[in-house]
Formats: sequence, C-alpha cells, structure tokens
Amino acid sequence: MPFVITDACIDNKDLSCIDECPVDCIYEGQRRLYIHPVECIDCGACEPACPVEAIYADRKLPEDKQAFLADNAQFFTMALPDRDGPIGTPGGSQVIGPIAADAELTGNWPAA
Ligand code: F3S
Ligand code: F3S
Repeated sequence: MPFVITDACIDNKDLSCIDECPVDCIYEGQRRLYIHPVECIDCGACEPACPVEAIYADRKLPEDKQAFLADNAQFFTMALPDRDGPIGTPGGSQVIGPIAADAELTGNWPAA
C-alpha cells in the first residue's frame, strides 16, 4: 500500500521528498505534491525527508486525514482542469513535469 501526502504540504511545497523517491512516483500539482498510489513501492524513504511531516503510510493515516487517500488517487484518475484526460500511470513524474492543477479536496482547501 502507498504512502500519502496530506494537508501540511498545501501551499508549502518543500520538494525534498522528490529527491528521495527511487522510482520517481511523487508528482507535483499546483498546491501540493501527490504520490502515485500504483507506482509507489512503499519504500518509505520520502517520509522522514518532509520537514512538515506531511507524509504518512496509508495504514497510519490519522482519522482526520483519511480524505487525502481518495484525493491522492483522484489526482491520477480524474480529468483535471485544463487537461484532456486523466494523468493515469505515466511511469515517473519527470515524464510529465509539474501539473498546474489539483485534485478536488486540495484545490478547495482554504488558503492559510
Ligand atoms: Fe517513493 Fe515514498 Fe513511495 S519514496 S516509493 S513515494 S514511499
Ligand atoms: Fe510537500 Fe513535504 Fe514533499 S512539504 S513537497 S511533502 S517534502
């Protein structure tokens, strides 16, 4: 099961996690980053790299952050604004680069 990035990353993209991922499965959205739930090999290297502790193993997600499981999946499975279709499973974030859009929960998250 994958790791999940949560609200502490919103409008606060440190980007340190990207450098740690051996399979390049952390994708950059407009307001935060998203871990690809299929491409993640569950190595856990990204979790300690985040200075704001935004990353959790899905099985350890606190109750009040459970909604981010679906939000992370939605980033890859739904057609995001200004894109023709879903991102799907590109095989690495460098293949597509940063995306100027977010999944619904993140996009509607109140600004700090
Ligand atoms: Fe990468 Fe973190 Fe998964 S380093 S493989 S996103 S647990
Ligand atoms: Fe976000 Fe933490 Fe990565 S703030 S960009 S999840 S290092």
